[in-house]
Amino acid sequence: MKIEEEPVMYEASEMSLLMRGMYEFNKAARTHIINKDSLLAFPEEFLSIHKAVLTDPSERDKEFDSIAEQFIKAQKATFSIQSDSTLYYFNKSVNLCISCHETRCIGPIPKIKKLLIYPE
Ligand code: HEC
Repeated sequence: MKIEEEPVMYEASEMSLLMRGMYEFNKAARTHIINKDSLLAFPEEFLSIHKAVLTDPSERDKEFDSIAEQFIKAQKATFSIQSDSTLYYFNKSVNLCISCHETRCIGPIPKIKKLLIYPE
């Protein structure tokens, strides 16, 4: 007898895929900033944080939109001009990742916190 068993596949939402990309990009950017390498360019696709479909659409509320807007501003400031403020804006971005996650998706917080760059 052959039992056909379909594994239950969890399909990642648009927002999950975007977030994974944001994590990888900021992890790479962190190394660039620490090594004082040339700056990476702000990835325009991050703007889809404003419309990407969430696993639970009710998580997109006023607070989400407000944090998302501040986050995009901080990321643009990080990746637009290399200056003494680059590190400040990078950490500001990461703290905004954390602020949003504190109320709706707490799982990745420990991983996100590791992105913060502490001054020597
Ligand atoms: C405005 C709110 C908000 C901001 C800002 C934000 N996140 Fe998220 N993040 C979420 C939500 C909500 C989810 C769950 C998405 C879903 O399930 O559809 C998520 C999911 C994730 C995930 C899990 C993805 C997966 O595998 O399913 C990671 C990792 C993540 N975020 C990292 C980050 C990082 C790193 C940043 C900053 C560079 C960040 N997030 C900024 C709200 C936010």
